[in-house]
Amino acid sequence: MLVDTILDAIGNTPTVKLHRLSADTGSSVYAKMESLNPGGSHKARIAYAMILDAQRKGILVRGSDQTILEPSGGNTGIGLAMAANLLGYKIVLVIPDNYSIEKQKLLRAFGAQIVLSDSRRGNNSHGEKAIELQFENPDFVMLNQQLNPANPEVHRLVTGPEIISAFGQTAVNYFVGGVGTGGHISGIGEALKAHWPALKIYGVEPAQCDLKNGYHAAHEIQGLSIGIIPRNMNFDILDGMIKVEKDECVSMLKKTMQTESISLGISSAANLVAVAKLAPHVSKGSVILTMVYDGVDSYLSYLD
Ligand SMILES: Cc1ncc(COP(=O)(O)O)c(C=O)c1O
Repeated sequence: MLVDTILDAIGNTPTVKLHRLSADTGSSVYAKMESLNPGGSHKARIAYAMILDAQRKGILVRGSDQTILEPSGGNTGIGLAMAANLLGYKIVLVIPDNYSIEKQKLLRAFGAQIVLSDSRRGNNSHGEKAIELQFENPDFVMLNQQLNPANPEVHRLVTGPEIISAFGQTAVNYFVGGVGTGGHISGIGEALKAHWPALKIYGVEPAQCDLKNGYHAAHEIQGLSIGIIPRNMNFDILDGMIKVEKDECVSMLKKTMQTESISLGISSAANLVAVAKLAPHVSKGSVILTMVYDGVDSYLSYLD
C-alpha cells in the first residue's frame, strides 16, 4: 500500500478471531484491531476526523499555526499531535498528573506541549483544566472529543461499515465496547444496528462506576468512565452494561497475550472480560465482536 502521509494509513484495521476465548466461552469471539492504526489506537480516526471537520467549517485553517487544545489522557492526544504536525497546527494537551511518564514523553516526542492537571480533583480533572485554559486563551481551538459529533460520526460512517464488509454474510449478534467519550460504541453501534437489527450492544464500565446514573468513582481502567456523562454517548443503542474489576482485566490481559499473541491495553482486556461474562447468557455459537483499542506498551506498570 502506497500512501501520501501516515494519516492516509488510518483505518481498514483487521478483525481477528480470538480462538482461545472462543473455545473457553462457546461463542465465536472477534476483535477489531484498532491498535494497528497509526499512533496505535482507534483515536487516530477521531483526531483526524475532528480536525478535517473543523477545517471544513473554517474553525481551523490548514497551515495557520493555530493552537489546538484538548484534554486527553493519551490516545486522542497522540492522534491530534500526529495530525497537527502534518497539517500545520500547534498542539497543547492537558493530561492528569497520575498518567504514566511514558505517555507524557511520547506525547512530547510527537511535538505536543503538555499541561498536567491535578488528578486529585477527580477523573475529569484534565477536562476542567482545559476549560480554564480555553478561557485564558480564547484563540485556542478545543475540539472536545466528548461532545464533538465528528467523533461518533467517523465510527458510524467508516469503522462500522468496515466491520459490516469484513463479516459479509455472517451476522454479528453482539457488540461489546467500553465507554469513554461514547464515540466508538455509539457510532459503530448505530451502524451495526441499522445493518443487523437483532444485534445487541453491551457497554463496559469499571465495577465502581454507574455511567447511566452519573456515578463516577475513581478507577484504574484508563480510557473508560471519564468522570462525566459524555454528550457523545447514545444511550438508546445500549442493551446493557457489564461491570469489570481491574484485577480481572490484568489477568485477562496476560492470558490474552499468551494465548492469542495479541498485545492489548487494560481497557481492551476489560472488553474481553465483559465478553467472557456475557457469553454464558447467550446461545452457543453466537458471534460476539469487540475491540482492541491499543497495545500493552502504555500499561506495563500494571504487570508484575
Ligand atoms: C485506551 C482507550 N480505551 C477505550 C476508550 C474509549 O473510547 P471512546 O472514547 O470511543 O468511548 C478510550 C478513549 O479515550 C481509550 O483511550
